Amino acid sequence: MLQDKVVLVTGAGQGIGRAIALTAAKKGADIAACDLKPETLEQTVLMIRNSGRRCLAGVCDVADPAAVQDFVAWARTEFGRLDGAVNNAGFDRPGTVQKITVEDFKAVLGVHLVGALNVIKAVSPLMIEQGAGRIVNLGSIYGKTGGKGEAAYSAAKAALVGLTKTAARELGPHNITVNLIQPGLTRTPTIETFMAEKYRQLLINDTPLGRMAEPEEIAGPVCFLLSDEASYVTGAVLDVSGGCWM
Ligand SMILES: NC(=O)c1ccc[n+]([C@@H]2O[C@H](COP(=O)([O-])OP(=O)(O)OC[C@H]3O[C@@H](n4cnc5c(N)ncnc54)[C@H](O)[C@@H]3O)[C@@H](O)[C@H]2O)c1
Repeated sequence: MLQDKVVLVTGAGQGIGRAIALTAAKKGADIAACDLKPETLEQTVLMIRNSGRRCLAGVCDVADPAAVQDFVAWARTEFGRLDGAVNNAGFDRPGTVQKITVEDFKAVLGVHLVGALNVIKAVSPLMIEQGAGRIVNLGSIYGKTGGKGEAAYSAAKAALVGLTKTAARELGPHNITVNLIQPGLTRTPTIETFMAEKYRQLLINDTPLGRMAEPEEIAGPVCFLLSDEASYVTGAVLDVSGGCWM
């Protein structure tokens, strides 16, 4: 349960982020949701409010440290506390190491890696004050194996493991846990729109459970890491991949 906890979710407008926000709300949490796209974010907000919980929503680019600081300050004013933060926002600019431009490489790292750092920097002072907090980062199985044509994405997700473990070491003495979930292929609008069926099938062929995940199947383990039951779990990297590339 996450009864009366306050959880911040980035990239909450669709896909896994929306599922995390909704699952946490169903478990009793109030949500501070941010995304780049106001239209999809608004739908998430309506769904959360329909479930009976409070939801504060803001258009915020996680790559912008000032915007993240402002959003967290607003959430603090509205809710008075922040128990959990989920670094979920992400996007991709595919490219091999030979072809990807430095600009694209930096843009992907700017959202996945620097974005997570921006959120950790913004929420940790409040969590330290409270004497408790939970941070969950979304990595990927590409972070441990690399992925052909995914130079920036794989590098960003691998670097998130180092950031997670470092933050876990530094914030642990303040009773703040920091963990990372590595999803496998998950049925989200982005995957359904941009990943060719033949590549999806290649991944599924390498997945013992023989199918892709539904977003709620990633949200469940994230909510466990946000909960009191996970009080002694920190610095952990958890594959939620149906066994793909275990
Ligand atoms: N879907 C998968 O198969 C899969 C697999 C492994 C890991 N992941 C990771 O899970 C997370 C969510 O994936 P998804 O498939 O739901 O993605 P998605 O593209 O469907 O949704 C991502 C959301 O993040 C938002 N976003 C993008 N850039 C942002 C920014 N700078 N600031 C704020 N919001 C921003 C987008 O607007 C979108 O609403 C990502 O970190 C992704 O890398 C996904």
